[in-house]
Amino acid sequence: MPARRPLIAGNWKMYKTRAEAEGLAREVRTGATRPGVDVLVAPPFTVLAAVARVLKGSNVLLGAQNMHSESEGAFTGEVAPPMLKEAGCTHVILGHLAHGLVPIVCVGETLEERDAGKTMAVVERQVDRALRGLSPERVEGLVIAYEPVWAIGTGRTASPAQAQEVHGFIRRRVAGSHGPAAEVVRILYGGSVKPDNIGALMHEPDIDGGLVGGASLKGDSFLKIVHYPEG
Ligand code: PGA
Repeated sequence: MPARRPLIAGNWKMYKTRAEAEGLAREVRTGATRPGVDVLVAPPFTVLAAVARVLKGSNVLLGAQNMHSESEGAFTGEVAPPMLKEAGCTHVILGHLAHGLVPIVCVGETLEERDAGKTMAVVERQVDRALRGLSPERVEGLVIAYEPVWAIGTGRTASPAQAQEVHGFIRRRVAGSHGPAAEVVRILYGGSVKPDNIGALMHEPDIDGGLVGGASLKGDSFLKIVHYPEG
């Protein structure tokens, strides 16, 4: 089985002034080097260029939090893929599959859906929709993030076993539609990832990294997550 490089991604959501963003980016740049682990930050649009300058020449990857599917157009409030590339981004959360940016495709069920026993059906539908029409090569380059809605920003994490159950399901589903690409595609877990739970999550065979919100906003907690304990 090909080894998948772990990816730890920080989603800064709607936080950080420019000065704060530059400070955090400097901390990440200095402390987040871990051989064999990819690290990415996704700041708000307004500070992408500033963060790109701080990260230039480092191994830390830059992602945007969203984008429109068109290259340009009269879409108020939207940002186009070429704009993100120009700002220094290589990845985009929840993006569309174009323009050479790596999409981090988020899937996940609500609490209501989980309680109704619909988790797998919901995730299956989301994964199928995201991957439809893609070649196996495109799928290999994707990042999928399993983010149970009930665990985002709530302090409630899926247990490692709960997360693994869905990650394994996603990988089998991708294997069914795209064959061996399933062994290459990275599947991140997101939802209240913290320094004290990342190690156990990463221990699971189908969890290839974390998409971290709240705990990515402080250098020390994000760096602890990047340097999660092995084994
Ligand atoms: P959280 O956010 O870590 O604050 O729960 C996760 C996410 O939405 O990416």
